[in-house]
Amino acid sequence: MKFNFSPTVSAKQDTLLVPIFSDNNSSLEKLACHQAIQALIDAQQISTAKGEVTAYFFEQQKVLLLGAGKKSELNENRLQSLIESAVKATKTQAQHVAIFVDALVPKSRDINWTLTQVSQYWVSNLYAYDTTKSKKESATKTTQITFISATENEKAVQLGYAIAQGMNITKELGNLPSNICTPTYLAEHALALSKNNSQFSCEVLGADEMYALGMHSFLSVSKGSDEPEKLIVLKYQGAQSNEAPHILVGKGITFDSGGISLKPGAGMEEMKYDMGGAASVLGTMNTLALLTPKINVIAIIAAAENMPSARASKPGDVITSMNGKTIEIINTDAEGRLVLADALTYAERFEPASVVDIATLTGAVIVGLGSHPTAVYANDDALSKELLDAGLEAWDRGWPMPLWENYEEEITTPFADLRNTGNVGRAGGSITAAMFLKAFAEKYTWAHLDIAGTAWTSGKNMASTGRPVPMLTHYLLNKIK
Ligand code: BES
Ligand code: MN
Ligand code: ZN
Repeated sequence: MKFNFSPTVSAKQDTLLVPIFSDNNSSLEKLACHQAIQALIDAQQISTAKGEVTAYFFEQQKVLLLGAGKKSELNENRLQSLIESAVKATKTQAQHVAIFVDALVPKSRDINWTLTQVSQYWVSNLYAYDTTKSKKESATKTTQITFISATENEKAVQLGYAIAQGMNITKELGNLPSNICTPTYLAEHALALSKNNSQFSCEVLGADEMYALGMHSFLSVSKGSDEPEKLIVLKYQGAQSNEAPHILVGKGITFDSGGISLKPGAGMEEMKYDMGGAASVLGTMNTLALLTPKINVIAIIAAAENMPSARASKPGDVITSMNGKTIEIINTDAEGRLVLADALTYAERFEPASVVDIATLTGAVIVGLGSHPTAVYANDDALSKELLDAGLEAWDRGWPMPLWENYEEEITTPFADLRNTGNVGRAGGSITAAMFLKAFAEKYTWAHLDIAGTAWTSGKNMASTGRPVPMLTHYLLNKIK
């Protein structure tokens, strides 16, 4: 996809995308046929209802009039859904689309922000999953987007494009079934990225190395599966080598059956998405490869499959984690925190400036927050604010959650230093999970994102969302501003 700018409409653009509002259509004036269109709107022959698209032909050009509701009500959510409608209407029809983007700036945002978001939404909406279908999606016809705007900002567009590319990789990894997207597959993705980009390097640790490091918390999860576990360490060096790295740690459970604490059958297929944290970290690394910012970032991915077998961990088992803390495994379905515990300890060796883990960690976070915000936990208020601000900026929002010491007693047991589930039933399940992780992140500034509600959508159009790649990208880029 190519993007460029033009102050005016030209004949090369086969399709013009023009938002129309019920209350203010000053942006129409760039069109020679604007009076005719306004007359049709006034006569209610063309609908300005949000998301409705009407085609109008004028001198060999197709003018797609995109109903956008009231201009005074144009906000971030509305913009996002308008672009979704626009891509649906043009994807297989238009080769060169010119967008009247100046009309799409929501109140409280500016044109630069809008250029980033429109580019991002456009490219991310072009993604469609068909890898394991014999009938492929019809190919995208659009190859060129022109922003009709008084402002030219190439950088803003590149940012949106790079984020969308990262999101689409995240979506693909998430949507792939667990018999294809295994821990080994994730490792191969990371290795390929490092091969193709000189600023990247990658190391993959297998069972033997993890055993030698004493990662028995991690290994207690993978040992029930025949799929080899992988700890993937992917480094991006964009700054001086002595500059402390920012670390992203991703939960990469490529299938979560629950283990011996087996999950119920209904909906279990969704647990192929339990590597959504890992996928968002790999997506973000792909975005960095396109943007090449002056920052050092290390991705650590804890990739394993959680399966029941005669070799699997059992409820009541006690293991010693890499940092020496002992853990009683109360429930083998609380496996994410077990693999992350050792990945977080492993992160210490890089003396990081910050560590953020991203995990589809608990069903409880969906009960609490639904599917709109990502839950944000941190042992540092400034880091929490940076992530929340980045989420607002990227329109990929988070919501703050508590890590009070009051919750500490809820993860105690007579048999080990910690237990892997709360001893107060299901109360505050996302928080007790975060409290558990906190015990392994004492050596640095750390945050945890519980993305169980935001990484994918359920139902008949089940799909990975590509979140929180936008939040993570803005967060990292803000580190160098
Ligand atoms: N991967 C799940 C969390 C999850 C469940 C995400 C449903 C999205 C939808 C996680 O490993 C898990 O099973 N968590 C348990 C924890 C419990 C055993 C304390 C949960 O949330 O039920
Ligand atoms: Mn689980
Ligand atoms: Zn899980």
